[in-house]
Amino acid sequence: DFDAFDISEELGFLLEEPLTNLPDYYRVWLDLANNLTHLIESRKLRDLVHKMPVLSPHLLSNHRELRLAHLALGFISMGYVWQEGQHAPAQILPKALALPYWLISRRLGLPPILTYSDSVLANWKLRDPTGEMEIGNMDLIFSFPGGESCRGFFIVSLLVEMAASSGIMGALEVMHAMKISDLIGIQEGLVRVTQSLKKMKETFKLMHNHVDPAAFHGTLRIFVSGWRDNPMLPRGLLYEGVSNEPILLSGGSAAQSSAIQCFDALLCIQHEDETGAFLTRMRDYMPPAHRQLIETLCSLPSLRDFLLSRSSSDLCQAYNSCISALVDLRSYHLNTVTKYIIVPGNRTMGCPLRGVCTGLNATGTGGTSLMVFLKSVRNATQKALILER
Ligand code: HEM
Ligand code: ALA
Repeated sequence: DFDAFDISEELGFLLEEPLTNLPDYYRVWLDLANNLTHLIESRKLRDLVHKMPVLSPHLLSNHRELRLAHLALGFISMGYVWQEGQHAPAQILPKALALPYWLISRRLGLPPILTYSDSVLANWKLRDPTGEMEIGNMDLIFSFPGGESCRGFFIVSLLVEMAASSGIMGALEVMHAMKISDLIGIQEGLVRVTQSLKKMKETFKLMHNHVDPAAFHGTLRIFVSGWRDNPMLPRGLLYEGVSNEPILLSGGSAAQSSAIQCFDALLCIQHEDETGAFLTRMRDYMPPAHRQLIETLCSLPSLRDFLLSRSSSDLCQAYNSCISALVDLRSYHLNTVTKYIIVPGNRTMGCPLRGVCTGLNATGTGGTSLMVFLKSVRNATQKALILER
C-alpha cells in the first residue's frame, strides 16, 4: 500500500530526504532559486531570467531530482511573475522557464505552477542532520521574501502535515478492517484518526509564534498567488514556447494537501456545488500517487452507511469524535484566516480606488471567495455527525 501511494508511516505525504542539489548542468536554476529573496527585493530576477539558456530536462533521472527541479522552477516562476508586486504581474513566462517547467511537470503529473507539494512537501531540510524534525531544527530549501514568517508559514504547514501521518495510517487501517468486517479494527483506526486531527490542531498553533500577520499578508502571500480566478491575471499566463494561448492555473494553498481530503473521503463528508468542485479540482495539483489514495478511499463502500446499518453506539461515537475533531480543526483554521488575511486586509483598505485594491483580500491564493468557501466546508463537515435516533 505505502509504496503504491508514495507515503511513509512517519512522514505521511512529505517527500523523504529531499535533494538540495542537481547535476551541474542545471546550476543556473539553483543559483537563481538559492538567491531568490535577494533577487526579488533588488528587482534583478526578471533580467537574469531573460539571460537564462533553455536547458533540456533530460539529465534529470529520478523522482527526487524531478521534484527539486519542479520546486526550483516554481519558485523562480512565482518570483518572476510577481517581482513588481500584485499590480504589475508578468503576462508571459519566458521560454527558458516555461519549456523545461512544462516538460518536467508532465513527467511528474503536476501542473507547471508552484503547488503545496512543492513549497511544503518537498521544500525542507534539517539544520543538524542528526537532530529531530522540529521547528528549531528545520529550514526551507528555497524562500520568498518575508524572512522568518516565510520559513514559519511553510515549516508549520509541514509539521501539521506530518502530524496527519498517523491519521493516514489510521485511515488505511479502517479501510482494511472494513473489507473483513473487523469492527475492532475500524474502531481502532478511527481513534487514530481522531488523535491525529487533535495533534494537527495543536501543531497548527505554532503559526502564531512564527508568522507575523503583516509580513504574511503584505509580503509573502502574493508569491503563492496564481493565474486562475485572479483579477490581476484574468486571462492567465502565456507559457512561451509551449502554447499560443495563456494558461489558467490556481495558486498554492493547503487545499492541495492530500491529508485532509483523505479524511473527508474516509468519513464520507460531502462537499457540494462550487465548494466540492473546487476541492476536487485541487486534486489535479497533487502528486498522482497521493491523488490515487483519495480516489481509492472515495471508491470504498460508505463507512458512514455501514456504521448506520450496524447502529453500534461505540462505533458511532468513534466516528463522531473524528467529525468533531475535524470541525474543530476547520474552525481553528477559520480563526487563523481572520487573523492573517481579513484583519490585515482591512488595515490596508485606506486605498483611494476601492475595487482596484481588493485583489487578494476577499480571495484566497487558491482563488476561492475564502470565508464563504471555508464556512461551507466546515458546515458540510458538521453535517456528517451521526445524530442519536
Ligand atoms: C484552504 C488560508 C494554513 C489547510 C485555505 C483557504 C485559505 C486559507 C484562504 C481557501 C482556499 C484558497 O483560496 O486559497 C490559510 C492561512 C493559513 C493557512 C492564512 C495560515 C496562516 C493552513 C494549514 C493547513 C491548512 C497549516 C493544514 C491543515 C487548509 C485546507 C484548506 C485550506 C485543508 C481547504 C479547505 C478545507 O478542506 O477545509 N486556507 N491557511 N491551512 N487550508 Fe489553509
Ligand atoms: N491559501 C492561503 C491564502 O490565501 C495561503 O493566503
